[in-house]
Amino acid sequence: MNFAQYWLTPSLPKPTKSYFSYALCVGIIILSVSSLKYGFGYNVLDFNQDKSYNSSKSEIVMHSSLNIINLDEPITENFTCLKTTKIFQVIRTTICLHHVTDYISSYYRRNSIFEQEAVHVLFRIFLKYPHLGLIDIGANIGAYTMFAAAMNRFVVAIECFRPNYMRLAKAIQIEQFQKNVILIGNALYSQLGVNLHLSNDPGNIGGQATDNSRLTNQSSDNPYVVKTMRFDDLLPIIKKTKMRSFLLKADIEGSEYHIFESGRQVLDYLDIPVILVEWVWLSKNKERATNIVNLLVNRQYIATLDTCIPLNMTEFTNNWPMNVYWIKINSSEIC
Ligand SMILES: *[C@@H]1O[C@H](CO)[C@@H](O)[C@H](O)[C@H]1NC(C)=O
Ligand SMILES: *[C@@H]1O[C@H](CO)[C@@H](O)[C@H](O)[C@H]1NC(C)=O
Ligand SMILES: *[C@@H]1O[C@H](CO)[C@@H](O)[C@H](O)[C@H]1NC(C)=O
Ligand SMILES: *[C@@H]1O[C@H](CO)[C@@H](O)[C@H](O)[C@H]1NC(C)=O
Ligand SMILES: *[C@@H]1O[C@H](CO)[C@@H](O)[C@H](O)[C@H]1NC(C)=O
Repeated sequence: MNFAQYWLTPSLPKPTKSYFSYALCVGIIILSVSSLKYGFGYNVLDFNQDKSYNSSKSEIVMHSSLNIINLDEPITENFTCLKTTKIFQVIRTTICLHHVTDYISSYYRRNSIFEQEAVHVLFRIFLKYPHLGLIDIGANIGAYTMFAAAMNRFVVAIECFRPNYMRLAKAIQIEQFQKNVILIGNALYSQLGVNLHLSNDPGNIGGQATDNSRLTNQSSDNPYVVKTMRFDDLLPIIKKTKMRSFLLKADIEGSEYHIFESGRQVLDYLDIPVILVEWVWLSKNKERATNIVNLLVNRQYIATLDTCIPLNMTEFTNNWPMNVYWIKINSSEIC
């Protein structure tokens, strides 16, 4: 879907016509920045600018199984990184790509944006609520994290596959977002610190599922062996940031259940008005989907198509879209 359609919805702040046409006609950064600054009604660029989130490794007391990536350490691997096209017509960022055969990377190679529609629906909420950060579970090469950070939002990104998170770390360094992002290289599971095998999918290099039946003692030199964490293991890190309100994006190829099951304390502690869950995989697994529906309904969430239109709760295995936006019932003004 084209972003222009979102600008037609009443809830979206619209740039004035003159800024709109300047941004279209003249690709000068200063004009784009002006339209960002004045068009959206508050200054997304200044927000968070001088806050320190204490994300540096040394200040967080953590379990040794938590793989918190040191974003200040230079990355020697040579990745292909490029500047993306814009969301909301003004916000660009950097993404570091996999090989040409990779599905997600191919979007950026052809100057497009992976899941552009969902990125617009979700981050439209940032424009309205300056206090929100992002928890990005299954961050891949940063399709959501890098845009959220480019909007000066604080991000906790979780990605278990090293070839993904090293590319994400590189992009964070190129954009100098080290202060805005905490990057954690673990897989979500019911236990902390066990090793799991990833399946190997050459067409979607960064998108493998963990195979929960394959615990292993193999060393983690193999990128297809990943170390696990529970979502609640994030709690000390999140408390340290002093942030209480986040959007949550979960795209971990069917393991989403572990987030809610192992994350009760985090979910109690935080205010999470919107949870975006990739549903395409879950709709094929009735048992897991039922678990997630029950967990979220018990936590006062309703499922929606686009944060506004409720979905029929009985049709979650046959009629729900690819991405489902779970909305906390008392956050109805999010729409
Ligand atoms: C970060 O740490 C410094 C020194 O420990 C402290 O003064 C500051 O208040 C902390 N900032 C936040 C946002 O917690
Ligand atoms: C990266 O590229 C530079 C320059 O082309 C080269 O000197 C270096 O050996 C490369 N590093 C790796 C790890 O391939
Ligand atoms: C891993 O090693 C531990 C201790 O040596 C052992 O108890 C456990 O069964 C092993 N697990 C697997 C999956 O090999
Ligand atoms: C939900 O779907 C079921 C089964 O398809 C249907 O019988 C029911 O009328 C629907 N409910 C609403 C509120 O549309
Ligand atoms: C929703 O309810 C929670 C818990 O009662 C509260 O902390 C939060 O501020 C409420 N949010 C809104 C938008 O009313």
